[in-house]
Amino acid sequence: MKERLVRLREKMSEKGLEALLISHPVNRRYITGFTGTAGMALVTERDAVLVTDFRYVNQVRQQAPHFDVYRHDGDIFQAVADLCRQRGFKSLAFEQDHLTYGEVVKLRKSMGNQETVPVSQVVEPLRAVKDKEEQDVIREAAAIADRAFERILEELRPGRTEREIALSLEIMLREMGADSSSFDMIVASGPRSAFPHGVASDRVMEKGDLVTLDFGAYYRGYCSDITRTVALGSPNDKQREIYEVVREAQQAAVDAIRPGLAGREVDRVARDRIKAHGYAEYFGHGTGHGLGLELHEAPRLSPRGEDILEPGMVVTVEPGIYLPDFGGVRIEDDVIVTENGCEVLTKSPKHLIIIE
Ligand code: GLY
Ligand code: MN
Ligand code: MN
Repeated sequence: MKERLVRLREKMSEKGLEALLISHPVNRRYITGFTGTAGMALVTERDAVLVTDFRYVNQVRQQAPHFDVYRHDGDIFQAVADLCRQRGFKSLAFEQDHLTYGEVVKLRKSMGNQETVPVSQVVEPLRAVKDKEEQDVIREAAAIADRAFERILEELRPGRTEREIALSLEIMLREMGADSSSFDMIVASGPRSAFPHGVASDRVMEKGDLVTLDFGAYYRGYCSDITRTVALGSPNDKQREIYEVVREAQQAAVDAIRPGLAGREVDRVARDRIKAHGYAEYFGHGTGHGLGLELHEAPRLSPRGEDILEPGMVVTVEPGIYLPDFGGVRIEDDVIVTENGCEVLTKSPKHLIIIE
């Protein structure tokens, strides 16, 4: 955690920030180690203070020993302003993407004539490259998802509803070690598999369906995110065709990943393959995204992804084809960018699994 504070201070100095208020819970957790749900961190070149309420004072002392604790009794913005005054800060930067308009109004009122500066992307870029400890946690989160996938295959069959499968999968994730699901899982069967984000419904699955399962484990604060599409009964030619196109595109993108490539270049690899088979218009989302404390974070692997891949970044690779009223296929893996390429964390099979 101390190392993270050093990197944050370097970043603040680059951006010319005297004091930064970190309000976004995952950013605060990343910098301080404090996992509670309430509180904000205030950092300067010399100071590191966590402002929180009675419930968390002892927890902060335990989890964030390199931070001073400053307790507030109900008005956190007033406490932040008092602290700035006491310590003589002239200007306070706040995370513009994470405070509501109402909160900014309150902060500015409390700060009086002390300056407040909206800033963006201060902590987030630091989070993009994962240290060894983070990589180990995400590796385990991915392994938990793999184990749950293997088990859910035993339950997938015609006659079951999507919601039943989602419930079983949720339980299996926890049995395998997850703290919870990393997001509202997607179980989309038959024509619903053409909805890229078809959260589980009451639809009863039928023979002849493609079923897309997109889920992940939330484990020790970190997310995994995997998608597999399976067939219930023997797939028809079109289903087989789109499955193979997605599989080829997904594998090509995974194989292309290495440091130095921009997110959009990885996206291009998958998109070109899908385009070559005539399905470009049916692949309307980005190829992947960074994964960590949040399900979606930097870097983006999309046509507009400018971030350059570096060793230690963790990203998903998840192209898909969605044919309206017919069905869809998506395959998603999580990978760590390494010095020469990438390490694939999700190891579930990628050939078309046919459940008879
Ligand atoms: N279901 C969210 C994602 O795969 O990004
Ligand atoms: Mn996913
Ligand atoms: Mn994803």
